[in-house]
Amino acid sequence: MRRPFIAANWKMNKTIRETESFLNEFISLVQDAKDVDIVIAPPFTALHTASTLLKNTNIQLSAQDIFYEDKGAYTGEVSPVMLTDIGCKHVIIGHSERRQYFHETDEIINKKIKAAKKHTLGVIFCIGESLQERESGKTFDVLKREIEEGLKDISPDGIVVAYEPIWAIGTGKTATTEQAQDAHKYIRERLASLYGNKANEIRILYGGSVTPDNIDALMACPDVDGALVGGASLKADSFARIVKFKR
Ligand code: PGA
Repeated sequence: MRRPFIAANWKMNKTIRETESFLNEFISLVQDAKDVDIVIAPPFTALHTASTLLKNTNIQLSAQDIFYEDKGAYTGEVSPVMLTDIGCKHVIIGHSERRQYFHETDEIINKKIKAAKKHTLGVIFCIGESLQERESGKTFDVLKREIEEGLKDISPDGIVVAYEPIWAIGTGKTATTEQAQDAHKYIRERLASLYGNKANEIRILYGGSVTPDNIDALMACPDVDGALVGGASLKADSFARIVKFKR
């Protein structure tokens, strides 16, 4: 059985004060949730505050991005050493917004995953097709390329894959459960071609307009092991309901 994994991606939202007020409410709402990995990825500026508040709780800290060198002249970047130092256990890599707005290629993403793993950070590795790619029948080609290039020469331990169809992110258009399950099944097959039986242990999350209203149906799909949640993770009660999904 794969342990469910529910992660909040706050993107560029929440000040330190807003982070404190969210966590003060959220920690008590989910303290009895035992059989699920709960992860929160605040912006870099709130990591320290979140790290302090999350000590001795059942919630793990993630960063939203990473750079692939340990230190040096890379103005504006944050290294894996700095992330582990501040208490991060995971990092989101390859989010479609980073691919689209910051021109991250599969090659850069591969380097970032290697750097994260070198420092034993868990990786939430994001993949997914655009609307145009889906409509022209290229969904599986895109997923195959992103998996093969992104995970090139990388062992599967510590990797969680997040399938996020770009057309479903922040749009209110969730993939149907059939679309999600089809893509997740395909992703698991690709992972099996890289890792054999170990693919059955890799958690595959769905992301894209996940809400308290659709989480239960998504989690009922056999290959959906969790969720990466943007908009609906910004309110403590709504994210707590997602964490406490019912199968
Ligand atoms: P959303 O974002 O839940 O707001 O669609 C998900 C994500 O981009 O990780």
